[in-house]
Amino acid sequence: MAWRVLTYVVLVIAVAVGLLVTGVPTQLGFWRWLVNCTGHPFLVGFAPGFMRPGDNQYSYEELGKLDLSGQSAIVTGANIGLGYETALHLTRQGAHVILACRNAGKCADAAARIAANTTRGSVEAATLDTSSLQSVRSFAEGMLARQSTLDMLVLNAGIGFQQQKELSADGIDMTFATNHLGHFHLFQLLLPLLESGGKTGAARVVLVSSAAHFDSFDYGVATSVEQLTAIAPGQQMHYGMSKLAQVLFAQEATSRLPADSKVFINACHPGAVDTNLWERVLDQFGREKLLVRIFALIVDRMRKDFIWRTEDGALTQLFLAADSAAISTRNLRGRYFHPQALEVAPCKKHATNLTLQRELWAFSERLVADALAK
Ligand SMILES: NC(=O)c1ccc[n+]([C@@H]2O[C@H](COP(=O)([O-])OP(=O)(O)OC[C@H]3O[C@@H](n4cnc5c(N)ncnc54)[C@H](OP(=O)(O)O)[C@@H]3O)[C@@H](O)[C@H]2O)c1
Repeated sequence: MAWRVLTYVVLVIAVAVGLLVTGVPTQLGFWRWLVNCTGHPFLVGFAPGFMRPGDNQYSYEELGKLDLSGQSAIVTGANIGLGYETALHLTRQGAHVILACRNAGKCADAAARIAANTTRGSVEAATLDTSSLQSVRSFAEGMLARQSTLDMLVLNAGIGFQQQKELSADGIDMTFATNHLGHFHLFQLLLPLLESGGKTGAARVVLVSSAAHFDSFDYGVATSVEQLTAIAPGQQMHYGMSKLAQVLFAQEATSRLPADSKVFINACHPGAVDTNLWERVLDQFGREKLLVRIFALIVDRMRKDFIWRTEDGALTQLFLAADSAAISTRNLRGRYFHPQALEVAPCKKHATNLTLQRELWAFSERLVADALAK
């Protein structure tokens, strides 16, 4: 009896996976139907097959019309993946782009590749480890010493699921430190450069969050050291929490600025995108395990045929960074977007909780102050 049930379960899973990777559900419009039917914002723009008529609100054609010459941008985690594509396309439109990466060698290589693939704009490499508040501080000091303004700040660097608990150089949970806290402090330090609004009078800050923010702990985001320390290793919601922190941060930072501020801060989910993030997640699970090897085959197939190409995944953050006219005309402040540049309601339970927003801000300030006082 048990064998029979197991056989059925394996068969059902095999058929589901088979259908998924063949593209049949996409061709039949199953994913579009699923988005409409469930109405859950998590699914909006998840992958190309999920796009409904009207979801494609932005394109490379639109981006190609922009002239970003005379504008400057900082993109964190720009040596690869979404950050690299963002930096490449901002440069192509004429901006001066500073790649802020933790590995100087990889950063210089990326800058050379961008320079070789663009005829406009300019690019340079700088070192920034977002998990280290000291690194954030020295990077920001360098920028404040040489720049008088900044037009775009793309807070993109990030790590995904972590199987082991790891602490940053400041003794703070590594996922929280890398994805949220380092960016929080960087924004605070660079705000004086953004406040004039840059060349267009509308400086843009983008937090590259994730739809994973819908999947966080019951309390939303840790707002005390005790809560942060209590998170057990290997919990998927841990990543979701750091991404929720970014959505809350975009809203709280906006509400702390005057209503007519020249700084426009928004968050986005790039969709499920074919980047190295997936490799890193598989590494975390342990590639030597049989189940992980099977899972890796499915992931590989999905990366090829199902999810967004990196270039298309970068489009929403590019819109929020580059299109100053649309951002200021539509007065987009503290909002949340999915592919392609489609505004979506963030997690209702937590992201609109004003108390949580304020508590997270106060907690982040405390963590920064304590770490720098050590
Ligand atoms: N790919 C997706 O499906 C997906 C979905 C939702 C959200 N996102 C978000 O998109 C953003 C970009 O990720 P991706 O998909 O492009 O992944 P990726 O290819 O792994 O790129 C991540 C980038 O972040 C950098 N980074 C990691 N830790 C850092 C640190 N401490 N300091 C500075 N840079 C650091 C990496 O540098 P190294 O190369 O040196 O490690 C790399 O440049 C992340 O915030 C991620 O959470 C991605």
